[in-house]
Amino acid sequence: MSDSNEHELLIKTPKQLIYAVIAAFVIPIFVIILLAYYVSSSEKPAAGSNAFSEESIAARLAPVGTVDFVDANAPKVLKTGEQVYAAACAACHTAGAAGAPKTGDQGQWSARLSKGFDTLWQNAVNGIGAMPAKGGNSDLDDIEVARAVAYMGKQVGADFVAPEPAAPAAEAPAAEQAAEAAK
Ligand code: HEC
Repeated sequence: MSDSNEHELLIKTPKQLIYAVIAAFVIPIFVIILLAYYVSSSEKPAAGSNAFSEESIAARLAPVGTVDFVDANAPKVLKTGEQVYAAACAACHTAGAAGAPKTGDQGQWSARLSKGFDTLWQNAVNGIGAMPAKGGNSDLDDIEVARAVAYMGKQVGADFVAPEPAAPAAEAPAAEQAAEAAK
């Protein structure tokens, strides 16, 4: 039983020593490059994602509650009849859900049309039968409801004309006063 066999050396020739020395340099450098790449690339988004764009970061960092300042004096921009219809009325009236008269269905509308525009408008604003007031959309201006009714009327051939909102009258007295003062 000889001891020399048990301690077998990995490096036996000068050539192996050279390889070992080179590997001892190259492998750590390679590992360092990989680590550096790993650390610096940890924030790279997936291809095609804009998760790290300035806007989306700002959106993520934005405070939870934000306030939109709306100028209370600015005139409300009223939607067109078609827009109102699509947003607030189509849900029931396109398919005729809950017994709603179907838009464009002459037969279901003829009796209603004969009530006249103003009555239909009032009923749409206040609600009628299974229809909630303003179709359940209380934010709508009465004029917007009128436009939607006119739009629905047109689909069955009625030439309804929705009233226009009253023009703001605030300017007139001031202008008159100025004219008086100039006399
Ligand atoms: C939740 C469903 C629903 C929505 C939303 C809805 N309607 Fe109606 N609407 C009905 C029903 C049901 C009737 C029939 C009511 C009746 O005659 O009993 C009706 C009837 C009407 C009539 C006929 C009224 C009359 O006097 O015969 C008009 C006009 C009308 N809707 C306009 C609108 C407009 C404009 C909107 C959107 C702003 C709207 N509806 C949204 C369900 C709805």
